[in-house]
Amino acid sequence: MSKTEFEKPDQEALNHTMLVQEHLKNEVNDHEGWLSFYNFMNFVLYKPTLGYYTSGTHKIGLGGDFTTAPEISKLFGIAIANQLLPALRKYKKPSILEVGAGSGKLAFDIINQLNNTNVELDHYYILEISGDLKDRQKRTLSQLPNKNQVKIRWLNKLPEEGIEGAIIANEVIDALPFERFKIIDNNILQIGITYEGSQLIEKEKVASPLLREAIKNVEKDIGRSFDTGFVSEIQVHFEDWFKSIDKGLKSGIALFIDYGYTRKDYYSLQKDNGNMICHFQNKAHIDPYIYPGLQDISASIDFSLLADSAFNLGYQVELYCHQSDFLMSGDILAFIDSESDDKERIRMNQQIKQLFLPNIMGEIFKCMLLSKNCNITHLEGVKDLRHML
Ligand SMILES: C[S@@+](CC[C@H](N)C(=O)[O-])C[C@H]1O[C@@H](n2cnc3c(N)ncnc32)[C@H](O)[C@@H]1O
Repeated sequence: MSKTEFEKPDQEALNHTMLVQEHLKNEVNDHEGWLSFYNFMNFVLYKPTLGYYTSGTHKIGLGGDFTTAPEISKLFGIAIANQLLPALRKYKKPSILEVGAGSGKLAFDIINQLNNTNVELDHYYILEISGDLKDRQKRTLSQLPNKNQVKIRWLNKLPEEGIEGAIIANEVIDALPFERFKIIDNNILQIGITYEGSQLIEKEKVASPLLREAIKNVEKDIGRSFDTGFVSEIQVHFEDWFKSIDKGLKSGIALFIDYGYTRKDYYSLQKDNGNMICHFQNKAHIDPYIYPGLQDISASIDFSLLADSAFNLGYQVELYCHQSDFLMSGDILAFIDSESDDKERIRMNQQIKQLFLPNIMGEIFKCMLLSKNCNITHLEGVKDLRHML
């Protein structure tokens, strides 16, 4: 998809992307004329005040660039709250830590649902990198009914002690910066960017030792070397990120929901052009270089990498399943049935299709449930796919 296939952004947005490019060019110059894709992505998504997530772009939901499950329906948050209950009930004063809370909609629905149970949360913590989204979350959560007395705290750093309860992250790992690579005649090339005059262009270099080692490990694991022309992505710093989150959990569960596959599927022959996906004006496409700072860049995630990192940090992988199965066993059908307003029931049934249908979200999205220093009973009726990891 090229720039011309999108509506021209307004002047304010155009000024913003020009400013981002000016700073990006300086960054490239400061790095001897070349930035790896990881550094490029980190800059255009997260550079304070300039990046897609750190500036004031609308991003998520109606009028934004992409929609996530919590924005589609409150049923998503209700099912998650129901699924967290058995683990939360193990603690006198459980807390939840949500990483990357977007508009705050998921937090809103979870807190509301828990309010209908006998579980009293000590805190609902939010770790959010985007100042702009933090403000949006505060506005969303200020609409909670008064009876919800949960202490909501936004963290700049994780609690020293770690919480007892649950960590959750929906569609956060896909937004973490990754490296892209290309194989040419058995050589591993690292994809990056440079400027030719004022033109941002993609340029490859011989891969760094870190990237080479990571790719060799993947090849060993999947039992196949990549052929010439193969392009893909890899999160070389994933375990460091997970370590930083892990500090926040003393005991309990961690739930990650995202679109992605096992490593074998992620790096399959069919996916020889990678798993990257960009979003602009609610359209998905694969050009990460249009309008820097105005569009989202992400990639499906390698759930085997998440499982390996979790294992290395002492977690048990309790469950890996399709999102549809996870939600279904979270009692949402019963919730819909209990709705007395016919119109609302019909509306919820339509929303559920988006969350459940295999080619929309139901099977493309997966859930991985981990436990740390805590025994949890396995969820009933969920088709467990851990054997595929
Ligand atoms: C794709 S959005 C998903 C938002 C939300 N979870 C949802 O489902 O609507 C990614 C979210 O993760 C946040 N984020 C990305 N990297 C982060 C990091 N390293 N630490 C905390 N939040 C992060 C973004 O600012 C944003 O809120």
